[in-house]
Amino acid sequence: MRIPTCLLLALVLAGLAPFAARAQMDPAPAHPELRGVFDDFGGEPGLVALMDDFMARMLADPRLRPFFVDSDQALVKRHLVEQFCAILGGGCAYSGRSMIESHAGLGITRADFNALVEVLQEAMAGRGIPFRSQNRLLAVLAPMHREIVER
Ligand code: HEM
Repeated sequence: MRIPTCLLLALVLAGLAPFAARAQMDPAPAHPELRGVFDDFGGEPGLVALMDDFMARMLADPRLRPFFVDSDQALVKRHLVEQFCAILGGGCAYSGRSMIESHAGLGITRADFNALVEVLQEAMAGRGIPFRSQNRLLAVLAPMHREIVER
């Protein structure tokens, strides 16, 4: 049931282009219409649990571990919770840096980006988040590659 990134991009192009444009401009574009998706994620406590699981999976993945092993993992998780909560209309304020600023110089490739999305999908599936809600979030995240992928 994993949705390939190319299909997600097609979905974005088909119907979510305005949201994509906003996601490109802002590290935490709010989508109040995704409030039901926020509830499917278990609200803010669900996002905290998801990010704990997601970070553990990334540190166990040889493709992603090198990026995160020396980062302030607790801070990155907190900022991810805030960002996803804000995106999903949960009313949180994002206090981290912009996507361009926080990823500049890391040398992230398209393959690295796809690996992170894959591991995020595994973490969401592992927590029983409905596929439709997973894909609504991923459709907002997908265009962010423009600010994150460098080569
Ligand atoms: C849509 C995809 C992504 C989103 C939404 C995202 C989001 C974030 C957020 C919110 C932060 C915290 C910024 C801060 O603390 O100020 C962060 C940091 C970070 N991200 Fe991403 N990220 C994405 C993709 C990636 C990818 C593909 C990689 C590498 C494979 C990556 C590696 C990192 C690293 C290493 C940090 C910590 C940087 C530092 O400590 O200075 N991210 N990301």
